[in-house]
Amino acid sequence: MINYKELGLVNSKELFQKAIVGKYAIPAFNFNNMEQLQAIIMACVETKSPVILQVSSGARKYANQTLLRYMAQGAVEYGKELGFSVPIVLHLDHGDTFELCKSCIEYGFSSVMIDGSHHPYEKNIELTKQVVEYAHKYNVTVEGELGVLSGIEDNVEAAKSIYTQPEQVEDFLKKTNVDSLAISIGTSHGATKFKPEQCTRNADGVLIPPPLRFDILEEIEKRIPGFPIVLHGASSVPAEIVKIINANGGKLKDAVGIPEEQLRRAATSAVCKINIDSDGRLAMTAAVRKVFVDSPGEFDPRKYLGPAREQLKELYKHKIVNVLGSADKA
Ligand code: G3H
Ligand code: 13P
Ligand code: ZN
Repeated sequence: MINYKELGLVNSKELFQKAIVGKYAIPAFNFNNMEQLQAIIMACVETKSPVILQVSSGARKYANQTLLRYMAQGAVEYGKELGFSVPIVLHLDHGDTFELCKSCIEYGFSSVMIDGSHHPYEKNIELTKQVVEYAHKYNVTVEGELGVLSGIEDNVEAAKSIYTQPEQVEDFLKKTNVDSLAISIGTSHGATKFKPEQCTRNADGVLIPPPLRFDILEEIEKRIPGFPIVLHGASSVPAEIVKIINANGGKLKDAVGIPEEQLRRAATSAVCKINIDSDGRLAMTAAVRKVFVDSPGEFDPRKYLGPAREQLKELYKHKIVNVLGSADKA
């Protein structure tokens, strides 16, 4: 058993309290490999932002659990070497079983998500409570979820019916004792968050997605004032990045994300953690595709992963400074 404190990590408790009072959100960036991790740390050190390093179960399998622990510890040391020690949380994204959450805690994670949102309400409570009871023994913070994020597979009616129901949140918190709550107000995972028929088009033919349900967020905030709220599926899918991908052999059709102004607005509320994965994937892909098209003779991975890392760093800095508002909060 490794306690996260031995790795130099922190849990999310204090970061969230400061974020709510300061009206900003902590970036939760997913990573699977060294270049992504380097880009995150460089961006956070340069902007002096706290950060949540997110690892999905797929990422854990891809990178290996032992390597991940040393990578997280390395990230702490790397930050110091770059000249500024930012608070770093190592968080399990979308944990689906008690056993996975327990294993991550034993491997040094400082925070875990138990995503019971696909289960019936009572089962979600039972599973979340079990994880919280274990995690709190080690001061590890726990994120739960109520409401299911809509996806491209859902029809509009189904998407409506799975928003978080504000009348459930107090009961869920009381029965589970979670530290933060992910809610569903119209965001969704991936780079194609809405079907074209769910969107309108502006004069240039660009797809405009339906607005987030700030009314639901406000109702939730009223019921649990000061409680940390989490937004998943918060990539904005920048049109200029999609354009580079498609101009260099990619085929991303109807990619559409959450407009950054709406995320900015959410960040000033009780939303204190905003999850971004797809935008990073898109930025890396655009950079790599461009190198392959511009320099077909190139075969040194540093020559395409290096530019990808640079693109990622710029993207993260932009999110921190212009969207989440977490710069200078470390
Ligand atoms: O919400 C899911 C994250 O984007 C992680 O995705 O399971 O493909 O690693 P993944
Ligand atoms: P995106 O797919 O919008 O980046 O969401 C990521 C996420 O919610 C990770 O949990
Ligand atoms: Zn998510």
